[in-house]
Amino acid sequence: MAIKVARKHPTFFAEVTGVDLRDPLTDEAWCEIEAAFNTHAILLFRDQPLTDAQHITFSERFGPVITATNYHWKTEKRRVHPQMADISNIGNDGDILPPDDERRMNSRANRLWHTDNTFKYVPSRCSLLLAREIPEEGGDTEFADMRAAYDALPTTKQEEIEDLIAEHSIFYSRSLLGYDGLTDGARTELPPAAQVLVRYNPKTARKALYIASHASHIIGWPVEKGRTLLDELITHATQPQFIFRHDWRPGDLILWDNRCTMHRATEYDDLGARRDLQRTTISDEINSVERREMERGTAA
Ligand code: SIN
Repeated sequence: MAIKVARKHPTFFAEVTGVDLRDPLTDEAWCEIEAAFNTHAILLFRDQPLTDAQHITFSERFGPVITATNYHWKTEKRRVHPQMADISNIGNDGDILPPDDERRMNSRANRLWHTDNTFKYVPSRCSLLLAREIPEEGGDTEFADMRAAYDALPTTKQEEIEDLIAEHSIFYSRSLLGYDGLTDGARTELPPAAQVLVRYNPKTARKALYIASHASHIIGWPVEKGRTLLDELITHATQPQFIFRHDWRPGDLILWDNRCTMHRATEYDDLGARRDLQRTTISDEINSVERREMERGTAA
């Protein structure tokens, strides 16, 4: 079977066919997938009914898979594998979560534009989301190309933001929705994290905006001025020409590059229809500010 890659949007998001991810990947297939990932930033693989072990094995090709942590419902048994983020509206009893469930309320934050784990000191390189059950209506995911959004900025704006650093916090993004159910332990384990505002990928020689609903302000700037800039950049980056909307089918696996894309879940009847997806999240292994200092040769 020959691998084929077909772009679904003018600047990013491609569908890969001709590979069954349940089977061990040949070196040749891996090289083609890695090259497609760097070029297109997001890859869709259809008809991939993977077991957890197969999902994790493929994910590990991209780097270390993060063990998911529940900061909201720590005492509860998890429904899914420890290395999977549970992107569902299903409880441990197999039923749809009730309206006041903590997990349901927290997962509404996925409807804000974000990139995974920027609120952690070491953020995420990429994520792999596998669809198991999908509602008949709604529940699509939208993706935004932050490389194209960066390229479209006026040069003066690119120069203005080049060296800026933003502070990201999960408490900030949750507060935007009026949700304050995070445990005290989360406050200790997840202090705010500094991340660069513009990321450079040496493999592609491209820059991308690195922003998310977790970004609360620009370090060293008055909060209001920084928030205005962040709002302006998110509004710019989520214009229709930078967005692709994916209508899921069970068995779809989407791999996205968290360093150069944002995403958000869209509305569906989450009290009436089941939606069950599971995500592995790959660590970027180093904080983005430290990475930039290393790349520029300015590390202490
Ligand atoms: C996510 O934000 O990781 C999941 C997006 C979705 O539920 O569509």
